[in-house]
Amino acid sequence: MAVPVRTKSRRRQNIEQALLYPLDWTEERSGLVGAVKYFLFRKVPGDISWGHTLGSASLTAFLVQAITGAILAMYYKPDPDAAYDSIVNITNDLTLGWLVRGMHRWGASVFIILLFFHAARVFIYGAYKYPRELNWIIGALILILGMFEGFTGYLLPWDQTAYWATVVGVNLQGTGPFLGPFLVNILNGGAHIGVDTLSRFYAIHMLLLPGAIFALIGLHLWLVIRLGVTSQPWSPEAAGSGDGTGDGRPRAARRGLMRRSRGGDE
Ligand code: HEM
Repeated sequence: MAVPVRTKSRRRQNIEQALLYPLDWTEERSGLVGAVKYFLFRKVPGDISWGHTLGSASLTAFLVQAITGAILAMYYKPDPDAAYDSIVNITNDLTLGWLVRGMHRWGASVFIILLFFHAARVFIYGAYKYPRELNWIIGALILILGMFEGFTGYLLPWDQTAYWATVVGVNLQGTGPFLGPFLVNILNGGAHIGVDTLSRFYAIHMLLLPGAIFALIGLHLWLVIRLGVTSQPWSPEAAGSGDGTGDGRPRAARRGLMRRSRGGDE
């Protein structure tokens, strides 16, 4: 017996066309829709695990920090005479200010903890090995900058804890050989922590570091797309144990600029 073919009604087709029109319009002029599809719909190993979600979890935590930080920046005043009061105002007077501030403050720890978990997953799975060494280095840079974000943000409430914690932190840098005193001068905006330190930390915290981390995340994700993700060490598709075709050779990376790719036939 012939199976009846279900066709969409004319009305439904029109509605779908109207809904998809903005996407079609954008795709035709920019190729953006295709680019997003290329980013989101990729082949991953069949035995992928929950551990592989830690990178995306770190990305989510970073985005939460960026959004809550942008809201806080609308009300925070980076001036020693007004900083503390502006924080009290955000916490006690603004609608849901306590929530946004709390999310940003606790989110900072969540971000760093997730980064460590993600790096641990990568380490345990051996995913830092060829050809992903560069992505490991980029990740390590993100981790260092992330911790520096925490350090610079800690001063901003300009209360006693913030002030003295920063005095200790900055003085610690000063004990480093050769570069120590130079670093102290840059961080303080002078020989001692003072009026200029707060605006300097604020600029580093909300412009310099987030910008650098954002750019590094872009590079990081590009390399994840280019190289793919690796399986668990006990999988036949694990890093360095062949490409799942069973011939035991490492997965061939693309050719570098200076030499031929390892393990490839090119
Ligand atoms: C905001 C910071 C970071 C973001 C948004 C991020 C994001 C991601 C994502 C989405 C993946 C693919 C899925 C996964 O394996 O979870 C990934 C893979 C990877 N990440 Fe990160 N990551 C960050 C920090 C780091 C750090 C701190 C390290 C190491 C020090 C690192 C090293 C790597 C490596 C080597 C891979 C490839 C793993 C594989 O091929 O299996 N990442 N990252």
